[in-house]
Amino acid sequence: NSCDFGLVGLGVMGRNLLLNAAGKGYKVFGYDLDRSKVNSLLRENNRNFQIQASTDPEELVNSLSKPRKIMLLVPAGNAVESIIENLEPLLDPGDIILDGGNSFYQDTERRQKSLEEKGIHFLGVGVSGGAFGALHGPSMMPGGSKSAYGHVRPILEALASKYRGEPCVAYLGTGSSGHYVKMVHNGIEYGLMQLISESYGFLKCLGNYSNAQFHEIYGEWNSGPLQSYLMEITSAIFAKPDPLGQGALLDQILDRARQKGTGKWTSQNAMDLGIAVPTIDAAVRMREISAAKEMRVEAGKIYEKSNRSTEENLLDITGAALRFGYILTFAQGFHLLNNASETYGYALDLAKVSKIWRSGCIIRSSLLQDIAHAFSGPDSPGHLLLCPAIVDQVRDTLQHTRMMACLAAQNGIAIPAFYSALAYFDAFTTADLPINLVQAQRDFFGSHTYERKDREGNFSTEW
Ligand code: 6PG
Repeated sequence: NSCDFGLVGLGVMGRNLLLNAAGKGYKVFGYDLDRSKVNSLLRENNRNFQIQASTDPEELVNSLSKPRKIMLLVPAGNAVESIIENLEPLLDPGDIILDGGNSFYQDTERRQKSLEEKGIHFLGVGVSGGAFGALHGPSMMPGGSKSAYGHVRPILEALASKYRGEPCVAYLGTGSSGHYVKMVHNGIEYGLMQLISESYGFLKCLGNYSNAQFHEIYGEWNSGPLQSYLMEITSAIFAKPDPLGQGALLDQILDRARQKGTGKWTSQNAMDLGIAVPTIDAAVRMREISAAKEMRVEAGKIYEKSNRSTEENLLDITGAALRFGYILTFAQGFHLLNNASETYGYALDLAKVSKIWRSGCIIRSSLLQDIAHAFSGPDSPGHLLLCPAIVDQVRDTLQHTRMMACLAAQNGIAIPAFYSALAYFDAFTTADLPINLVQAQRDFFGSHTYERKDREGNFSTEW
């Protein structure tokens, strides 16, 4: 029983995270039901890694030093459930299970409670960065028992990506906070991806750029204030030829985006908490609209559009609008985190969350350094748009965003993520909204009462 760390699930993520740990000098044990995955992992030992592996859960448990630290990297849902059922009778009080998948935070909460009754700790750990991140350093978002985190902290810090030497992992809070933060990370991921795809659609319609030009444009943006992993891979995507020889690969990919649920959960939960995240909602909805390909083709024939090319400075407009969209998406995501932190008692530190997202994860971007700065300090407001450190960037990009919205509306180009960011901004910055009329209407037909500007209390009128 001399292994430091167990990894359950030897798919790409689990295997890579295990190799990451082995490369840092840890003695690791890999477990999977699939014999071929176990065998393939054992072949890695010729790199002088200290790796053991088996298809037998008892062997896993008996090989680990105490308290045992076992990380699950299996698909969220039933797979996590059945692994826990198998492991639980074999474990001792004090042992620690870490769930590194995209589990729904309420499942994590439930699993935590039932395992803690037996003295077994269960940490929900959001892991971001894909296969490359798992191998070379992901961003990790752990939540749960603080004392249990103390035991796994050295290994998680060794595994994590580093931002100027600082590990992109930190204890976030109690309960399901880790998986909650990862869910919102993914909601933001959806929003940024949608903004980028809309910027491409907008420029393609009005500017008629080639893929080679797009490769340059997004590459240049990636070397300025829009620097981000998603911008970087977008530039690379434009340069990729189709392996089947049909021009650019992107042009052969069907315009129908799938989803596994985390973005939708973010929107659903935001609505439950009464926090508006319209840019994330728009991103989820566009995946849904994209799925109706056949109907879109039909409707496109009925309502034909003619895009006119334009003399406007499209690249400046779009680049600025992207910066605006990025800021507004992060603003909505962090506002949700701030509210959830109070509602669920996570006690999240928004600056800490920003910091562990600066490297390793899918939404890493230079903007996160500004956001970390904006949320630092004791008096930080819970909304990015109210942070002085961000105000100038919003002001600088606003007019171009309005211009992009006008051009898109005139030309029938679908940019709902940009519209929603702008509409949210305009509503959020309006001191007096016309929604007093909604209150009056509610009272008119249903005596639902209204509040007054000049005195306390609830009032109703015979209209
Ligand atoms: C990450 C990603 C990852 C997620 C994919 C797919 O942080 O590494 O968020 O966890 O599974 O992005 O999500 P969809 O299939 O829902 O697009």
